[in-house]
Amino acid sequence: MNFDKLFHRKGLGSKKWDEVQLHTGVNADDALPMWVADMDFQPPACVIDTARRITEAGDFGYFCRMEAFYASVAWWQETRHGWTIDPRWCLTTFGLGNAIAITLQTFSQPGDAVAFFTPVYLEFQMKTERNGRVARHLPLAKEGGKYVLDWDAYDALMTGAEKILIISSPHNPAGRVWTRDELRAIADFCIKHDLLLISDEIHNDLVHPGHAHIPMAVACPDILDRLIMMNSASKTFNLAGLRTGNVIIPDEALRRRFAHAISALDMQPNLYGVRMTEAAYSPEGAAWVDGLCAYLAGNAKVMADGIARIPGLTFMPMESTYLAWIDFAGTGMTADEFTARVRDDARIGASPGAPFGTGGETSLRFNIGTQRARVVDAVERLQSAFKDLQ
Ligand SMILES: Cc1ncc(COP(=O)(O)O)c(C=O)c1O
Repeated sequence: MNFDKLFHRKGLGSKKWDEVQLHTGVNADDALPMWVADMDFQPPACVIDTARRITEAGDFGYFCRMEAFYASVAWWQETRHGWTIDPRWCLTTFGLGNAIAITLQTFSQPGDAVAFFTPVYLEFQMKTERNGRVARHLPLAKEGGKYVLDWDAYDALMTGAEKILIISSPHNPAGRVWTRDELRAIADFCIKHDLLLISDEIHNDLVHPGHAHIPMAVACPDILDRLIMMNSASKTFNLAGLRTGNVIIPDEALRRRFAHAISALDMQPNLYGVRMTEAAYSPEGAAWVDGLCAYLAGNAKVMADGIARIPGLTFMPMESTYLAWIDFAGTGMTADEFTARVRDDARIGASPGAPFGTGGETSLRFNIGTQRARVVDAVERLQSAFKDLQ
């Protein structure tokens, strides 16, 4: 796979490219979209060939063989993450945002609180609030330039109204890969405060060389009775438009409640999502992901090195994902000032940090899941936009 080959998505109805102005305010023909979390890569040939075969056969009727799909999910978890699952534990949703919303509705009541470590994927808060629950921010601390869990602070922030904790593992927006000890501490916190734990592991495959993701169910098998595991092929293989998420619930009582919720909504997966995910979860898909992770680590290095040359900007070291988290606090500028420079001078559509919750206010998130040439371009644009600081 040649990850350097430019993929031109503008005009194809890509939200990232065609709505960059709408969502980030960048108004320029050469806008560089680095906001929403999808990549500028086509998936591996095995996935595209599967879509082509379905299309050519022209059979879009009701379909069967879901057991083959669930077996592929189990195979992927076993071979890539060392997690042995029973395929019968798997349920399918319209992506993981949908899975989180269903979990909130099924396992909590309006007015209950939902906790998460901030800054974090902004939809945790939005889904919580849209569903009439209360967001409880548990701010991360920084140690050695990286986010760490701040256990001295969290107990005092809990009010007793919290019913659910959601984690992003690995962590969006900063790419932390939580260690076994950190996962253990999170599990103990859930036991102590009697919380259901949603472990959102959508970024689990995008771990840079030298780091290893541990599924929560592997790290802490003693909390399966309060654990909802979520993952999918959507970030890994750039299939977000297929709207297909895996919800894996080992505990039978929890699984029954979730299954009832999706059956009450008559949610049934779509043909392309199931078949293309199954094709991705294969040895060919695995080889492609290995190449991708090495490439993303290369992009992270280019971005980190470039940002290091701009005084006042701090790049958080990335252990995973294609989401770079850059703190502008050292510039002494307000968020409006540094955001305007990125938007109007660099013409980069980045994600503002404040919606990621407490601690995100002075940062912007840049999606570097793109061709290296575009990352180099982004670095040059930022260096130019902040040249008075250099
Ligand atoms: C941590 C996390 N969870 C969930 C999602 C959304 O997933 P989906 O597109 O499957 O709804 C994202 C997308 O960026 C994400 O980063």
